[in-house]
Amino acid sequence: MDHDKILILDFGSQYNQLIARRVRENNVYCELKPYYTSMEEIKKFNPKGIIFSGGPNSVYALNSPDVPDEIFELGVPILGICYGMQLITKKLGGNVERSDEQEFGFAEVNIDIDDSIFKNVVTDLKDPWKVWMSHGDKVVSLAEGFEVLAHSDNTPFAVIKNQIRNIYGVQFHPEVEHTENGSIFLDDFVKNICKCKGDWTALSFIEESIAKIKAEVGDEKVVLGYSGGVDSSVLSLLLSKAIGNNLINIFVDNGLLRLDERKKVIEKFKENIDSNLIVVDAVDKHLVALSGVTEPEKKRKIIGNAFIEVFSDEIDKIFKNDGHAVEFLAQGTIYPDVIESVSAKGGPSDTIKSHHNVGGLPEDMKLKLIEPFRDLFKDEVRRVGKELGLHDDMIQRHPFPGPGLAVRILGDITEERCDVLRKADDIFINEIEKAGIYNEIGQAFAVFLPVKTVGVMGDVRTYDNVIALRAVSTIDFMTADWYPFEHSFLAKVSTRIINEVRGVNRVVYDISSKPPGTIEWE
Ligand code: XMP
Repeated sequence: MDHDKILILDFGSQYNQLIARRVRENNVYCELKPYYTSMEEIKKFNPKGIIFSGGPNSVYALNSPDVPDEIFELGVPILGICYGMQLITKKLGGNVERSDEQEFGFAEVNIDIDDSIFKNVVTDLKDPWKVWMSHGDKVVSLAEGFEVLAHSDNTPFAVIKNQIRNIYGVQFHPEVEHTENGSIFLDDFVKNICKCKGDWTALSFIEESIAKIKAEVGDEKVVLGYSGGVDSSVLSLLLSKAIGNNLINIFVDNGLLRLDERKKVIEKFKENIDSNLIVVDAVDKHLVALSGVTEPEKKRKIIGNAFIEVFSDEIDKIFKNDGHAVEFLAQGTIYPDVIESVSAKGGPSDTIKSHHNVGGLPEDMKLKLIEPFRDLFKDEVRRVGKELGLHDDMIQRHPFPGPGLAVRILGDITEERCDVLRKADDIFINEIEKAGIYNEIGQAFAVFLPVKTVGVMGDVRTYDNVIALRAVSTIDFMTADWYPFEHSFLAKVSTRIINEVRGVNRVVYDISSKPPGTIEWE
């Protein structure tokens, strides 16, 4: 089925992924593409409307991001946000100036002219409308054919419109949470102005994906690296609905999993998915390869390579068993991974950590890739999982990195250290669940620090290890805040860990946000 689509041109704003999420929340499919996307590609995409995002540049700066004039001749509605509005104004003959002061924060907007772009915004609006501004430059005179729909004290042109060309501009950011009814405003644009139907739902996604996978795979076999996490669980369930027994899930126990994780993953898989599952014990292989290695990136490489070896061996075994080669590899790549690598700046961002997923499989394996979630955000994958009937505890699971405990044990990885960390981590997560705050936290875990400190237990001097606790709230895992536990909660967890985990005499709580910290310690 063909859905109505919105194109978001990315001019580099830090909020641009949010625009896409808001549009999709309203059941309209959209894609974020760099501002320099060719007209040919834009026409091929065939959007019902285009949104120009904000951006850090000034429209008058040398080589500032620009679009071809032809884009205004496409005859589809355009909404420019902040830089997007300034660019429209400059290109169509108005004026933009650098303000003496930057406007950053809340502003109150008064609507001067009623318009269908405000249709649902105004229904329960407190007067005046509170919006979020973040700009240096501002429009000082409108291009021909534009009129003012709304203003604020500092910004005479808060919302503008060209009736004939169906072009709108907003100086504020409707995509951020701080803007009251911001999502409704974007919904009004895509539904009332662009006339999108809003028929892109989790259910429609599932039906269409299943049909597509069936057509692509036919009677061939698909392998999937199954971890028990949200993405691979939803993917596995979707694939099993599409191709049944031709799906082969491979779960590798690398010895770096959490307490009883292998057992729990197998149980949950049976309850929720129940298709083919091969469980590989690769514990010794990993621990031997990691012995004496302390450098984080080296640990990741070793684990990545060991995983590939184990995975390839299993595929060979499948071939030997039934004489039919595996043709496809399914991967849980999601949309942020895709747009991260094609940013407005024209390239992938710095490698902070080399995240290892099955993505590292060597090309000579010649498997064809199936990536049904390439266009979805994480919360959309969760919605698909819910629609497929996956239990809530699987859908809401915190992410767990591929290299597992190896990047949570600083320094040398030994079996003994893994055991200490597993017990401490289990107590921490257990208390979080008991307190009913698991779903409020984006990710929580314990970290083993390879330092010994002096303590006293039962009148006896101890000289033992330190456990650090990490818990963050985050939407996209690209930025994160440390979670503000009650002191009594931290006291309880600390007492339990010190009393119940032999080898630990001190517990600390990590109060760094990301940036400048990262979520994991390595
Ligand atoms: P950082 O530590 O970069 O983590 O702030 C962001 C998110 O990514 C996860 N992470 C990884 N996931 N392989 C993975 O599959 C890795 O090597 C890896 N390193 C970090 C991390 O748990 C968090 O959710």
